[in-house]
Amino acid sequence: MNKNILLGVTGGIAIYKVVDVVSRLKKLDYNIKIIMTDSACEFVSPMTFETIGKCDVKNKMFHNNSHKVVEHIELANWADLFMIAPASANTMAKINYGIADDLLSSTALAYTKPIMFCVSMNTNMLNNPATQKNIKDLKEKEHLIIDSNNGMLACNTKGDGRLKEPWEIVEEVEKYFCKKDLKGKKILITAGATVERIDPVRYITNDSSGKMGYSIAKKAFMRGADVTIISGKTTAESPYGVENIKVDSAIEMKEKIESCIENYDCLIMAAAVSDFKVKNRKELKIKKQDGIDSLELEENPDILKSLIKKENQIFIGFAAETNNLLENARKKLDKKNLDYIVLNDVSKKDIGFNSEYNKVSVISKDNILDIERDTKLNIADRILDLIK
Ligand code: C5P
Repeated sequence: MNKNILLGVTGGIAIYKVVDVVSRLKKLDYNIKIIMTDSACEFVSPMTFETIGKCDVKNKMFHNNSHKVVEHIELANWADLFMIAPASANTMAKINYGIADDLLSSTALAYTKPIMFCVSMNTNMLNNPATQKNIKDLKEKEHLIIDSNNGMLACNTKGDGRLKEPWEIVEEVEKYFCKKDLKGKKILITAGATVERIDPVRYITNDSSGKMGYSIAKKAFMRGADVTIISGKTTAESPYGVENIKVDSAIEMKEKIESCIENYDCLIMAAAVSDFKVKNRKELKIKKQDGIDSLELEENPDILKSLIKKENQIFIGFAAETNNLLENARKKLDKKNLDYIVLNDVSKKDIGFNSEYNKVSVISKDNILDIERDTKLNIADRILDLIK
C-alpha cells in the first residue's frame, strides 16, 4: 500500500525547492497532504502545492468549513511520515517546547512518531545557541534532523543553512520507509573503472559506468548499513549519504582497500579493475610528432586475491564474461577466495555496461542463484540479501 506523507511547510525562501520535492514524491506514488503555516503562504500560494501535489493543502486551525472531524488529530493519525520542509527556527522551537498555536504545530504535538525536520535558515540563525539547543533536544527526542547543506544563501552569504536539494530530501524519505536490516553492518564497495595512465593526459581503462556498484551502495545505505565507496572513473551520480573515495589506478585502489578493509564486515568488488598497467608511463605529455612505437603493459596485482580475509568477513566479486560464463566464474570464485561471485554476460547490449538493467547469476561454492533481468537497484537488493 502506498505510504502517507504529511508535509509541513514553514516560511522560508527555500520553499521553492519544496515544490519540486512534492512533484518528485508524487511521481513515486506517495499519498500527500500538506499543512502550510501563515508565513509559508506569504512565499507561495497554497494553490501551487495543491496543483503540483494534487492534494489537500490546509492552513487554518479554525475555518468556515466543516469541523466534524478534529483535523489536527486526523492528520497526525493519517501520516506514516510527518516531514517539515523547510523547517524554520521558529517552528522547530515551537515543536521542541510543545507550543501548539497553529495547525502545523498542533498536529506535531498530536503526532506520535519521529518527525523529519529538513533544516533551512540563515547561518547566524542556525548557529544561534537557542536553535542549536532546540536541534539537540529534538534529536534526543528521536526526531530526525536532516541537516542543511553549506552553500550560497538567499541573504547573499555563504554558509550552513541551505536546504538540502530536492533529490536528497527524497532519498531521505525513501530511506525512512526502507527496512533497516543492514543496520550495524559496515560495507566497503568498489565501483567504476580504474584508469592506467600512459602520460598525464592519456590513459587506458575498462568499460564501466559504475552504476552497479553505486546501486548497491545506495541500497545498502537505505537499508541502514554504514557504507564507503572506493571508485575509479564513473559516469553515474554518486549516491547520497555515502562516503565516496575517488581513486585513479588499480594500485591506488588496492592501497586504499588495504588501508581500511579490516574495519569492514563485507567487501563488494564491483569495480572494473584494469588487469594491465602501462610499463613505460611518461611523466610529460608525449608529443604527437615524437610518435610512440609501442605501449608496453605489465600485469596489475589482483586486488581480491591479495587480500587477507578475516573470519566472518564476506567478500563478493564480480565476473564480466563473454564466453564459458559459468566455468570462468567458478574458477574466479575459487582463485580469489570469494564467498560469492556475481556473474554477468557482457556480450548482451541491453544489460550490463552503461545500462540501468542487468541479469546476473550469483555463484557460491555450492549454489547458483539466477536473478532474472531487472533494474540494477533491484538486483542490488538481491545481492545485499546475501549478507544480512
Ligand atoms: O579477473 P577478473 O577481472 O575478471 O575478476 C573480476 C573480479 O576481480 C571483480 O570483482 C574485480 O573487481 C576484481 N579484480 C581485482 N583485481 C584485479 C582485477 C579484478 O580485485 N586486478
